[in-house]
Amino acid sequence: MNREAFFTVHRELPREGPGEAADVHWVLDQIPKPARVLDAACGPGADTVTLADALPEAAITAIDKMPHFVEETRTRVPDRVTVREGDAFDVRGPFDIIWCAGAVYFKCVTQALKAWRPALGPNGHVAFSEPLKPGPDAPQAAWDFWAAEYPQIMDRAGLSDQVIAAGFEILGTRLIFGQPWEDYYTPMQARIDKLRGTDPALTDTLHEHQREIDLWRAARDHVAYLLILTRPA
Ligand SMILES: C[S@@+](CC[C@H](N)C(=O)[O-])C[C@H]1O[C@@H](n2cnc3c(N)ncnc32)[C@H](O)[C@@H]1O
Repeated sequence: MNREAFFTVHRELPREGPGEAADVHWVLDQIPKPARVLDAACGPGADTVTLADALPEAAITAIDKMPHFVEETRTRVPDRVTVREGDAFDVRGPFDIIWCAGAVYFKCVTQALKAWRPALGPNGHVAFSEPLKPGPDAPQAAWDFWAAEYPQIMDRAGLSDQVIAAGFEILGTRLIFGQPWEDYYTPMQARIDKLRGTDPALTDTLHEHQREIDLWRAARDHVAYLLILTRPA
């Protein structure tokens, strides 16, 4: 992967993966009002904004390892939110909720939950979204999408096993498919269209991203993330 080209395409996107404010609210509606919140691997901060709006009195921290995402998040959130560069899987709490959209796969579910366990306060929760293996009735296009994107994808049982192996229990799950993916890919398509023909160094990366979007469009309602709300068992 050409990292420079990758991050040129991914600059100025409102979020770096599928998701929507309703996902954050779905979690907040099920847990005691959190006073200490971590947005782990916040990307450009879309969910940090939702967390800050929903929790005006909470101490909120957002962490990402990429400096430009940290800067983008800082421009979007109130000053009371701490936004910093760092390893989202090596954090000091205590936090009442650790939120992580679309980034646990960098680590593996069990390892990520184990890493976060010492940073959870009493009655602390973790909510994270992970790619979900298509069901047996899904069209070939869905398999083609994930074969290109994330071949090690797991089904619900596999994800559940990984959560349990970390000593956590699942309190609820929510499918993320359709519109939240459209909301992710529509700005990316605009970015591709804007950059096309501007720099030969971007050609391959633009082509790869266009292919990703085309594969997703062919399987639109069969490509999903699973949002999982957990706590230590
Ligand atoms: C698919 S993006 C999701 C970003 C954001 N949560 C969102 O939904 O827009 C994955 C993010 O994880 C970040 N990331 C990956 N590994 C990380 C780590 N060890 N520590 C902090 N951030 C990490 C990347 O920089 C990127 O911003």
